[in-house]
Amino acid sequence: MRALTVRPGTADSFQLEDVPEPDPRSGRLLVRAVALGICGTDREIVSGEYGTAPAGSDRLILGHESLGRVHEAPPGCGFAKGDLVVGVVRQPDPVPCVNCAAGEWDMCRNGRYTEHGIKELHGFGAEWWRIDPAFAVKIDSALGQLGVLLEPASVVAKAWEHIERIGRRGVWEPRCVLVTGAGPIGLLAALMARQRDFELHVLDRATSGLKPALVHALGGTYHTGTIAELGFEADVIIECTGAPAVVMEVIGCSAPNGIVCLAGVSAAGTKRLVDAGALNRDIVLENDVIFGSVNANRRHYEAAARALASAERSWLERLLTRRVPLSRWREAFEAQPGDVKTVVEFDRA
Ligand code: BGC
Repeated sequence: MRALTVRPGTADSFQLEDVPEPDPRSGRLLVRAVALGICGTDREIVSGEYGTAPAGSDRLILGHESLGRVHEAPPGCGFAKGDLVVGVVRQPDPVPCVNCAAGEWDMCRNGRYTEHGIKELHGFGAEWWRIDPAFAVKIDSALGQLGVLLEPASVVAKAWEHIERIGRRGVWEPRCVLVTGAGPIGLLAALMARQRDFELHVLDRATSGLKPALVHALGGTYHTGTIAELGFEADVIIECTGAPAVVMEVIGCSAPNGIVCLAGVSAAGTKRLVDAGALNRDIVLENDVIFGSVNANRRHYEAAARALASAERSWLERLLTRRVPLSRWREAFEAQPGDVKTVVEFDRA
């Protein structure tokens, strides 16, 4: 079968190659790939900056934003041939730590978790993949190819769950939400803010095109420029750019009792001069919380599936800005102006 593979740590090692079909021991469901979403993490792995191959292999099958159709399922496992499914990215660590033992692998404490297509486990960028039913999530067939948005949506659903949990430390009646970055994660965070009826503001660099239109379609206000220029303080800020300058701007600029969720990953190496005293003073005197959020557990995938099912189909369709057949896979990894989410289509290859 064909698979998209890289040699982690080596730039330009990316290729579409023939690899053996997945070992039946790697999961009881045999799944035919339908589509694969591409994100910043994949591009980092392709550029050799991130990712680890499985033990005993020097290549990693890429891809963690999956969508596939079940081809073989053991009787009574809750899945049947023809079901649309998404694979959960992270597998609990083998110890397991207290969180992994409780099914909260997104909060793994010892770092020994593995991740499909990222860390020590082959990904879903192959014509066939296998997964165990406990790590597969069924997609409403009406959602079709939009099911490929489930993994990024699960990451956002987790962020929202944690924001709400933190909010319950006191009386919490948030009104205004600011999302920085109008990529797929930012737009899905914005969608979930509107699903909670919050006043929505989204800030991004793009001055025109699809991103402002998608925010307006949600009933939100779209901004460009700096946070200082906004002229209001948000109760919740979800930072999705990972850009060091934006990260430093959002810390300490929320409303009193504000919650800032950092959901974007940055590259190391950017140093900035900050007034640590003023920053600390703001955070302490306003009971602000700044926290990081990554990955998702099964509960978050299920919450994300509900959020996608209740979103407007036509709005979600607009997020999938490029669908590239497997035969032209390289194009999917080249960023193009106007991109929001690019997917590689396996079933039309
Ligand atoms: C994925 C997460 C993963 C993280 C770190 C993200 O792109 O969506 O599931 O935990 O990368 O590897």
